[in-house]
Amino acid sequence: MNKDLKITLSELDTPVKILFTGYLTTVAIGYLFALIQILFTHGMADGKFGLSIDDIVYSYYGNRSGTVLEKKLNGSMKDKATEQENFTLMQWIRDGAEEKEFTNLKPQKIIEAKCQMCHNEGASGIPDFTKFENIKELAKQDEGATFSSLTRVSHIHLFGISFIFMFVGLIFSFSTTASSKYKSIAIGMPYAFLIIDILSWWLTKLSPMFASLIIVAGAGMGASFAFMWVVSLKEMWFINNPWFCEPGSPCQRSIKVIAEFCLNSLAFIGRIIRVEFFPKLVAMTKNAFDWLSRKFK
Ligand code: HEC
Repeated sequence: MNKDLKITLSELDTPVKILFTGYLTTVAIGYLFALIQILFTHGMADGKFGLSIDDIVYSYYGNRSGTVLEKKLNGSMKDKATEQENFTLMQWIRDGAEEKEFTNLKPQKIIEAKCQMCHNEGASGIPDFTKFENIKELAKQDEGATFSSLTRVSHIHLFGISFIFMFVGLIFSFSTTASSKYKSIAIGMPYAFLIIDILSWWLTKLSPMFASLIIVAGAGMGASFAFMWVVSLKEMWFINNPWFCEPGSPCQRSIKVIAEFCLNSLAFIGRIIRVEFFPKLVAMTKNAFDWLSRKFK
């Protein structure tokens, strides 16, 4: 093998280092915004701030514990009609909230008599119950993400994120800190997690038991991103870089200590992932396929 052809991050020309660093920095900021966006879109799904398993379940599988109309009839709209009338409305919702049943049977009369004095065209901020579509909308089960939205987001994520990891992985592949074996693992991991992540959206759409797989895959992707990012930047700027810090100077020694600390923490996280996380992931993926094969048998 011709050793001379090998490119290492620390020996790159400064312009190339600037290019790589610019890319890594902007991608990291993009990643940060993506996380904030997840916090705002999915994080609020259960009405509470912060990401939980419930949020994931509501976002993909939906909240199937009842419709808005049912919840209101048990909540702030409980005293608007008699108990018997509420019961009639509930039954109509449970039976599928069909328009035929609505006009033929009692529901329409109850809504007209007990609800429309407030819920009408003139009311602002609350739904107008003189139009059946509005009632139907609130009597619908929340089924989470639709198949069309999942298809759209799936292909955007697969194309987009694989590109991000193409370049992050390419830059990282010139690093020398880790052995070739660990480098290969670090470069391959995000792709595996990306596929598991997208797959788990679809599985969670089918059954809420897969919600934790989404979190696991997302965390795995983030961890491999952080690892490659830190190692690449460290090698470009903090190894044998005389103009940044004289070799052997206190400045470089302290940077080495910090870098070693970061790498040790990453190695620690890596060990946890390998020992705790991977066996669980494998078991979960296996469960997923067992469950799927049972479902479609
Ligand atoms: C006295 C006026 C009044 C009457 C009568 C009334 N509502 Fe309401 N309704 C409101 C107000 C005000 C709100 C918004 C505040 C809230 O959600 O509690 C609301 C909210 C709702 C919501 C939630 C809408 C949303 O988009 O979140 C539903 C569902 C609802 N009402 C159903 C009913 C039903 C069914 C009846 C008849 C049995 C009824 N309401 C009778 C005033 C009324």
